[in-house]
Amino acid sequence: MFDFNYYTPTKVVFGKNTETKVADLIKEFGGTKVLIHYGGGSVVRSGLLKRVTDSLDEAGISYVTLGGAVPNPHLSLVYEGIELCKKENVDFLLGVGGGSAIDSAKAIGYGVANEGDVWDFYDYKRQAKGCLPLGVILTIAATGSEMSDSSVITKEEGLVKRGYSSDYSRPKFAIMNPELTMTLPDYQTACGCTDIMMHTMERYFTQGGNMEITDALAEGLLRTVKKNAVILRDDPKNYDARAEVMWAGSLAHNGLTGCGNDGGDWMTHKLEHELGGLYDVAHGAGLAAVWGSWARYVYKDILPRFKKFAINVMDVKEEGTDEEIALKGIEAMEDFYRSINMPTNLRELGVTATEEDLVLMAKKCAIGVGGQMGSAKVLDEEAMLSIYRASM
Ligand code: NZQ
Ligand code: ZN
Repeated sequence: MFDFNYYTPTKVVFGKNTETKVADLIKEFGGTKVLIHYGGGSVVRSGLLKRVTDSLDEAGISYVTLGGAVPNPHLSLVYEGIELCKKENVDFLLGVGGGSAIDSAKAIGYGVANEGDVWDFYDYKRQAKGCLPLGVILTIAATGSEMSDSSVITKEEGLVKRGYSSDYSRPKFAIMNPELTMTLPDYQTACGCTDIMMHTMERYFTQGGNMEITDALAEGLLRTVKKNAVILRDDPKNYDARAEVMWAGSLAHNGLTGCGNDGGDWMTHKLEHELGGLYDVAHGAGLAAVWGSWARYVYKDILPRFKKFAINVMDVKEEGTDEEIALKGIEAMEDFYRSINMPTNLRELGVTATEEDLVLMAKKCAIGVGGQMGSAKVLDEEAMLSIYRASM
C-alpha cells in the first residue's frame, strides 16, 4: 500500500429536480456573474438551459451564455470563452452538460485566472496557479469530470488532444439528477458506462501498492456498472439504474479507487486520446476499441490482478492456469462490450486507419506521455504501435 492524498471538495447535490437548487448553490460559492457553458444543444432541446436561466433570473444573478462545446472540445472555443469572461467580468462558471462542456469550462477557468496562453498547461509547459470557481449540472454519466481534477482539450491545429489535471479545477458543486440523463442516445449511455469502468480499471491494473478496501470498492463499482449498463440497454428510462451509473461515474474518477495504489496505468486512455484527436470518436467507444489489445499486451506482467479481475468482476470460474483464467476475463469483458454495442477493435469503431496513421498515433502518443508510460507494463512508442496494430 502506498501513501495517498484524497481530496474531493465538490459538494454533490444528487436526485430528482436538484437543478432547481442551482441559484442557491452559485450564491453559496460566491458567484455574482456567471458564464453558463454548454454543448451542442441537447440542454436547449431538453429545456434544461431555460430552467437554469429562469432560476438565475429569479434569484437576480446575472449571466452570459456560451454554447458549442463539441465532444473532444476545441481550444478555439476555450479562447472565445476566456475573452467573453474577461469582457463581462465573469466570476463563476457553470458547466451544463457532459464532460466536454465541463472540461471546456475548466479550461476557460484556467485561462481567466492565469496570464498567457492556456494551452501551455495542456502542453506541459507550466502549471496553473488557479482557476475560476466552477459549478456543474451533469447530463451524462461518463467522465467523472464533475468531481475530477482533469480536463481534456483538443487543439484543432495538429489535432492534438491533451489532458491537464490540477485540484484548482475541481468543481465547487455538482448537481446530479439521474433523470436528466434519460434523453441520452443509447450509444452515449453505453459509452459513458464504458468510460466509468475504464477509470476504475486504469487504477486497478497497477503494479504494487494495492489495498484491500480500494480493490473491494473498485470491484463493487465495476460489477454495479456492468449490471446496470445492461439494464439501461433494455430499459433506458430506469431511474435506479441511471442513478447507480451516475454516482458510480463520480466515484470512479474522484480519486477514491486510486487510494493506496500507484494512481493508475492510464495507457488505454492515452491510446484513446489519439483516436479521439484524429478521428473524433466518442471517448468511451474509443476506450473499448483498444482495451482488449492493451490487456493482451500487458496481462502477463500483471497476472495476479487480471486473475482477480476475471474471478471477482467477470465471474470467471477458478479453473485452469492463472493465464487461462486471466484470458477468459479479458474475453468476458469484450463480450460485455459487445452486449452493450460497444466496439472491441478499430474496425468496429468505424476507423479505417492506414499503417501510416497508426505510426503517427503511436508517435504522438509517445510524445504526449513524455516517451513512455504505464504501470501494468511500461509502454514505449514501439509497444503503443503494436497495440494499435493489434486493435485493427
Ligand atoms: O453537446 P450536446 O448537444 O450536449 O450533446 C452531447 C454530445 O453529443 C450528448 N449529450 C449529453 N448529455 C445529453 C446528451 N444528449 C441528450 N441528452 C443528454 N442528457 O452526448 C454527447 C457526448 O457528450 P460529451 O460531453 O462529449 O460526453 P462525455 O461526458 O463522455 O465527455 C467526453 C469528453 O470528456 C473527456 C473525453 O476525452 C472527451 O473529450 N474526458 C474527460 C475527463 C475528465 N475531465 O476527467 C476524463 C475522461 O477520461 C475523458 O478523457
Ligand atoms: Zn475516460
